[in-house]
Amino acid sequence: MRTQVAIIGAGPAGLLLSQLLGLEGIESVIIERQSPEYVQSRIRAGILEASTVELLKDVGVGERLAAESMEHRGIYLQWPGERHHLDFVKLAGRSVSVYGQTEVTKDLMLAREQAGQQTYYESADVELHDVGGDSPYVTFVDASGQPQRLDADAIAGCDGFHGPSRKAMPEAGQRTWEKEYPFAWLGVLADVAPSTDELIYAWHPDGFAMHSMRSPQVCRFYLQVRPDEDINAWSDDRIWDALTTRLGAGQRGWKLETGVVTEKSVLPMRSFVTTPMRHGRLFLAGDAAHIVPPTGAKGLNLAVADVALLARALTTWLRDGSEKLAETYSDTALRRVWRCTHFSWWMTTMLHRHGDDFDAQLQLSQLQRTIASEAASTELAENYAGLPIGY
Ligand code: FAD
Ligand code: PHB
Repeated sequence: MRTQVAIIGAGPAGLLLSQLLGLEGIESVIIERQSPEYVQSRIRAGILEASTVELLKDVGVGERLAAESMEHRGIYLQWPGERHHLDFVKLAGRSVSVYGQTEVTKDLMLAREQAGQQTYYESADVELHDVGGDSPYVTFVDASGQPQRLDADAIAGCDGFHGPSRKAMPEAGQRTWEKEYPFAWLGVLADVAPSTDELIYAWHPDGFAMHSMRSPQVCRFYLQVRPDEDINAWSDDRIWDALTTRLGAGQRGWKLETGVVTEKSVLPMRSFVTTPMRHGRLFLAGDAAHIVPPTGAKGLNLAVADVALLARALTTWLRDGSEKLAETYSDTALRRVWRCTHFSWWMTTMLHRHGDDFDAQLQLSQLQRTIASEAASTELAENYAGLPIGY
């Protein structure tokens, strides 16, 4: 088989890239290890930056998003005895939207199906070849067990942190930076109406907690736990008790509504960046090139910003014959990647209990400063609500 762009991975990065390229008349084929049902049901991110929402609307997958997403003006930051609202619209002129990654994925998959573009789900043994030369190709075994070879002008590695694309970059010249955090999140999905109008990020002596949501009937909560935490040690009652204590500490008289827990899992936390994001005809995008801890709600939005740049670079190269944007893709993308890596690290270290009591006092001082100073609030708001694509 032959196509213009072989895309590895049907996560948000791969699906959106194929949609962007399709609108410019560039053909692509996606190769994905999992089934569509599996990809659609992975519960992950929940917050879309304003520029992500705009882009999804521009590429024709904004209809359900416009109808079902919940627009939030900001977030609450809290610590014992204090809960404060940060209004991003006032501070930075932009809002964010609550719309699950599961829903973004479903909308993009439907658009791809309607455009009649080919996706190989449940593919095994995916390997990339000759990425530094002029004739790269991908081999894999399709869902029916048939070996396949896909030749392409370019390969987009959108296969997440564990995929084969990053490993296909030559070791010489490649550099990675990594930070593991000494805590993890216990993520909980529950059938219960939100007890807050906007997200609550809570510092607490027992550990960080967050109240997020997916719809007027479904909420998402997170609790700071140990990285090796045994999920079986967390009964539903223990989860609600911990959430009630940690989230309830900010405001007297506030009550957390409880409901039926439908999913719970422990999520590791790391920061990771690999550079450069391009070698020859292989381009990395999204989690394949970088991971951020989720405290800044940046992972999905960063993947979207990468592929917005990459689609432009591939279009001007493959359609118009100019390699200029392909040559600058890595440097341009990495500027935003490092900004979001810093912001996510900053939010994470400010809000999670780690270190000693001295560190805790510094965190509380930083939280107070973030609320008291308009300059400090604006810095958080601009980063959280999202920098323009191409920053
Ligand atoms: P992915 O979504 O990882 O997609 C990569 C795709 O490649 C997958 O479909 C995978 O099956 C496929 N693939 C992998 N290996 C192969 C292979 N060998 N062959 C073919 N295909 C392959 N971000 C937030 O902002 N907030 C959150 O709350 C949040 N929670 C998260 C929870 C978890 C458990 C994880 C892992 C991530 C979370 N993130 C969160 C991050 C966010 O979900 C990611 O940044 C986002 O999914 C990145 O999109 P992507 O398309 O680059 O990668
Ligand atoms: C979520 O709703 O899953 C979510 C929201 C904000 C974050 C992380 C996760 O910072």
